[in-house]
Amino acid sequence: MTAEIEVFRDLDELSHRAAERFVEAAEETVAARRPFYAALSGGSTPRTMFSLLATTDFALRFPWNSTHFFQVDERTVPPDHPDSNYRMIREAMLDRAPLPPENFHRMRAESPDLESAAHDYAHEIAERMHPLGGAFPRFDLIQLGLGTNGHTASLFPGTAALDETKRWVVPNHVPEMHTWRLTLTYPVINAAREVIFLVDGEGKADVLRRVVYPESPEDRFPAQGVAPREGQLRWYLTESAARLLPKRS
Ligand code: 6PG
Repeated sequence: MTAEIEVFRDLDELSHRAAERFVEAAEETVAARRPFYAALSGGSTPRTMFSLLATTDFALRFPWNSTHFFQVDERTVPPDHPDSNYRMIREAMLDRAPLPPENFHRMRAESPDLESAAHDYAHEIAERMHPLGGAFPRFDLIQLGLGTNGHTASLFPGTAALDETKRWVVPNHVPEMHTWRLTLTYPVINAAREVIFLVDGEGKADVLRRVVYPESPEDRFPAQGVAPREGQLRWYLTESAARLLPKRS
């Protein structure tokens, strides 16, 4: 399936479209009599979309009781730390949405034992999603961002997690940031029914062009490893982020 690219005037328009897509995907899933399983990234770009989901008409349409949210990745900080992805999602959405508390599955990346935290999170995914046999869990929707170095999730350039082909969740040492992260791996991301990148800002324009339209051997980035095997890949971009992309006819 070829990736779909949509460009929006600004972050507000992008966020409205992304919230609409979340509601559509959830409605489609629940109409097929399945719970809606989605994995959410952190950072700052998705904050507006999360807030719209929780506080506008979207909230009235969204099937909160049939939804389970998981995290794509988490920093190794407490859940109330300013850098916590969970804290951002909680403040933007969970504190204002009628999602049953047990339906948000938090990565416990504050644990001193990250290997156990990764194992426990994979077990929590398995307990909830019951993938058949040795299959990877198939999320209905995974929302990703793009870092200026071409990372996505906590899959950073040159890090060990890029080579993971079996485990669902791993600790990942990020030397450039002198830190560890917990992250979903490529096999899980690429098993999803749908993956949506949200990318905003002038600062992302160069890396976005090199990720989506590579021109040289140097144009190799972790975000390029996202290629859902049997799923739809979408890029929701603001004009500022998309300004270096070839003009499409
Ligand atoms: C994180 C995120 C990360 C994020 C990118 C882009 O933990 O930081 O999960 O992968 O999506 O860094 O972040 P922005 O969208 O805020 O630029």
